[in-house]
Amino acid sequence: MGMNLTQKIIAAHLVEGQMVPGQEIAIKIDQTLTQDATGTMAYLQFEAMGVPRVKTELSVSYVDHNTLQTGFENADDHLFLQTIAAKHGIYFSRPGNGICHQVHLERFGKPGKTLLGSDSHTPTGGGIGMLAIGAGGLDVAVAMAGKPFYLTMPKVVKVELLGRLSPWVSAKDVILEVLRRLSVKGGVGRILEYTGPGVATLTVPERATITNMGAELGATTSIFPSDEITRAFLAAQGREEDWVPLSADPDAVYDEELTIDLSALEPLIACPHSPDKVVPVREIAGLPVDQVAIGSCTNSSYVDLMRVAAILRGKKIHPRTSLVISPGSRQVLTMLAQNGALADLLSAGVRLLECTCGPCIGMGQAPPSAGVSVRTFNRNFEGRSGTKDAQVYLASPEVAAAAALTGQLTDPRELGAYPEVTLPEKFLLDDSMIIPPAAAPETVEVRRGPNIKPLPKGQPLPAEYRGEVLLKVGDNITTDHIMPAGSKILPLRSNIPAISQYVFHQVDPEFPARALAKGGGVVVGGQNYGQGSSREHAALAPMYLGVRAVIAQSFARIHRANLINFGILPLTFARAEDYEAIEQGDIIRLPELVERIGAGAEEINLIVENKNLTIPLLVDLTPRQRAILLAGGLLNYV
Ligand code: F3S
Repeated sequence: MGMNLTQKIIAAHLVEGQMVPGQEIAIKIDQTLTQDATGTMAYLQFEAMGVPRVKTELSVSYVDHNTLQTGFENADDHLFLQTIAAKHGIYFSRPGNGICHQVHLERFGKPGKTLLGSDSHTPTGGGIGMLAIGAGGLDVAVAMAGKPFYLTMPKVVKVELLGRLSPWVSAKDVILEVLRRLSVKGGVGRILEYTGPGVATLTVPERATITNMGAELGATTSIFPSDEITRAFLAAQGREEDWVPLSADPDAVYDEELTIDLSALEPLIACPHSPDKVVPVREIAGLPVDQVAIGSCTNSSYVDLMRVAAILRGKKIHPRTSLVISPGSRQVLTMLAQNGALADLLSAGVRLLECTCGPCIGMGQAPPSAGVSVRTFNRNFEGRSGTKDAQVYLASPEVAAAAALTGQLTDPRELGAYPEVTLPEKFLLDDSMIIPPAAAPETVEVRRGPNIKPLPKGQPLPAEYRGEVLLKVGDNITTDHIMPAGSKILPLRSNIPAISQYVFHQVDPEFPARALAKGGGVVVGGQNYGQGSSREHAALAPMYLGVRAVIAQSFARIHRANLINFGILPLTFARAEDYEAIEQGDIIRLPELVERIGAGAEEINLIVENKNLTIPLLVDLTPRQRAILLAGGLLNYV
């Protein structure tokens, strides 16, 4: 029986387990990436392991998220990241060099390799034929120390692409169509593997737009084969030697299948506030648009911006609408500057931002109150833009440019002839903003400004736990509820005592003080607790405040893994209705905890002392996860 491409790469990296969907496997990691918002913690964790030099083939530290320097905090973080990278064998991509996923695709990605990144859009690397997975920073730190990465073997979905895209329809519309069909939960426990004759009609950056936003499906990752198109892209990046051909066997077997006829697609748009609320642009055309933002790791490649420049050339943007562009990388921006496209953009009225995540992570350019913002980004959760009541739409660069010209949502096909833009035969190669690791690491002093605080330590599980229910929350609590982001809070990412003061800030601002005063406790949640991003601070900061367990009706996958990594027990109600019986302030006990968890018990009892109640809880943990929890977290365990 033939193998699909996913199975081939996993088989070549398999360290433990069997490739049976649902079973735990461990794979060797070839490359890692971090960004600054998750990187400082990841490197503190790596440092705590006492490994002098990374054991991966390649590790890169990017600075692209918190680049505003309105105080010393972000500047401290950047200097720490630069010096610790030099000391431990890590490449450092300086602020302004570009967004991690775009730069990694350009300069480092290699077909057939595994990439683990502490950013949920790491699957962008699937566009070049890598098995690229997003994870918490601690998992990345462990991979840098040469240990394998543990994951549940996903199902592999064959996404067969037929035909070719019509003018004004682009890669973003392909992934919006997949989101429309499968929803934001449709990829959970799955890898989407793209095949079929339509693949050869898509460039590597187009493929990367599709794999990037596969993250919004909840997928483990997405991947394209490595073919002549991949070879041409690598050759244009001066890296043809990194190319290997890779594809599924002709008789490969898949767990599920999906077919998309590229020629049948039309311009699509995701409506507020979810990336799967997708409709054709023509259905909501005419909606006045206040702001257009083009950029992010989804759509800021050379071709994306060249096409926007071609659409805007000789025209002016509508007076009602503000248009901001954040190029994906310095390579892209410099090429636009050299070939004149930048002048076309500026002359049309574009406001140019740094080559960073920028507005995608709420760093400036919040829309006006109740404003409509059309963005080429990948997420439009309520409030993420920085304006609580903004209406954020997600679309292709073509749709975004059309809205900027007309001041309203416009089907771009109405603009007339489609400007042809092709990939260059040679990209501009200048890696001067990527600093290689130091040749003499012993001479490097790691710079730790006051924003770099020591790592809090996890405590081993107590033999028996007694504590208070600190908070009870409802369904679909996101990692944003648990640990909010934004330009005030993000700079505190390396300072857990300070950032922990914002835990559950919107839900109950008294929570941090109460947790510290009570010496910790437990949190009770409803369904899908911890949905959203891979943000490990949503587990690390509660750990610092003394949270020992979260008892919920169900958990989101990555957050549950992060809770375990930081020694917080994720427990589920055996009977959903027991959720009603517990209230904030209840005194609870978990008897024989170490004994039961260590012995592999699948159920433990929760005693609610003040109500004289016994509630059965489910313990769904692998032997490895049990050992991690007993040790007080992954770092202690490693
Ligand atoms: Fe940055 Fe937004 Fe991508 S925060 S890494 S551009 S999802």
